Amino acid sequence: AGSLTVSELAAKLHREASELIKKLMGLGVMATINQELDRDAIELLATDYGVAVEDAVFIDELDIDIYDETDKEEDLQERPPVVTIMGHVDHGKTTLLDSIRNTKVTANEAGGITQHIGAYQISQAGKKITFLDTPGHAAFTTMRARGAQVTDITILVVAADDGVMPQTKEAISHAKDAGVPIIVAVNKIDKEAANPDRVMQELTEYELVPEAWGGDTIFVNVSALQGDGIDELMEMILLVSEVEELKANPNKLATGTVVEAQLDKGRGPVATLLVQNGTLSVGDAVVVGNTFGRVRALVNDLGRREQTAGPSTPVEITGLNDVPQAGDRFQAFKDEKKARQVGEGLMARYREQNLSESSKVSLDDLFNQI
Ligand code: GTP
Ligand code: MG
Repeated sequence: AGSLTVSELAAKLHREASELIKKLMGLGVMATINQELDRDAIELLATDYGVAVEDAVFIDELDIDIYDETDKEEDLQERPPVVTIMGHVDHGKTTLLDSIRNTKVTANEAGGITQHIGAYQISQAGKKITFLDTPGHAAFTTMRARGAQVTDITILVVAADDGVMPQTKEAISHAKDAGVPIIVAVNKIDKEAANPDRVMQELTEYELVPEAWGGDTIFVNVSALQGDGIDELMEMILLVSEVEELKANPNKLATGTVVEAQLDKGRGPVATLLVQNGTLSVGDAVVVGNTFGRVRALVNDLGRREQTAGPSTPVEITGLNDVPQAGDRFQAFKDEKKARQVGEGLMARYREQNLSESSKVSLDDLFNQI
């Protein structure tokens, strides 16, 4: 760390600048909010808060959007696309995911007992595609709120017998906010009342114009129930991901996002992580949200144990001290001491925030009872 102003350091320490100024005064240093502090003053203040200077910087790095990381072009390699399926209630999202998984996973991965985790990967023409399950998922809400991005491509499912509905519009605006390409899957084409043309017509109002009509949105007619059009849909996903040139650097410590997490009676905290950059390995020290630990086991979406998980791979891990939240970021560290320091720093911060939150709640409760 070079020099920081009082307010910059305050932000890093998650304190008020006025508090720092007071502390400095107590140390015989008169400072203003925009004053530059030298390394000694920074260290002095940080130590006073029980934070090593390096830690303060590290904690801040965890807040940085992982897409801001700059990998050198020559270190980047192609990675699988991460695809989410969105659409209105009952338009067939789950059936479509099941259909994709059944035709692609169980058929190819003989003997693999598929266990449900919130994310999975399939192979199409020798290329992998990662799917994130159920967009109504808590993780998506948290991730959206935090502006974190995990999705590369959105599949918008629209039932051909029902057309554009409120949640269809919502999904479109989410995808547009995130700036990710949309592939439209016009579903239930097997139905008598199916009218794919009407769906196309309706979607043109949302600037989703099929190629056949001079636009650039890919539409695929499918029947999730009968399995029609699934192969074509997979091909289109690969086509779009090629255009997107999705890359990551597999040769560094992993960063990514928690898809889901829970406490397992036998195994302790279990978290499904999506590795977004780098490679996660068994034995890695990790900071996950407000907790930390060491990766004891890595289990893939087929329930198989793995030693490593590269970019765009969903994986379930054990070995954390506590249960993180869906949407939390994670970061692997070389040594456990570093992870512990950062983890404990984050935990302390979290506890502090939570404490003030809960005291607010109890006061409110008190007033309500009166
Ligand atoms: P929510 O999770 O509640 O938002 O619904 P969903 O979008 O996941 O829909 P789901 O897959 O549960 O399907 C809803 C209903 O539509 C079920 O009864 C499915 O069997 C039926 N369905 C889904 N896809 C097709 C299809 O291609 N053709 C026909 N005929 N029915 C379908
Ligand atoms: Mg569903």
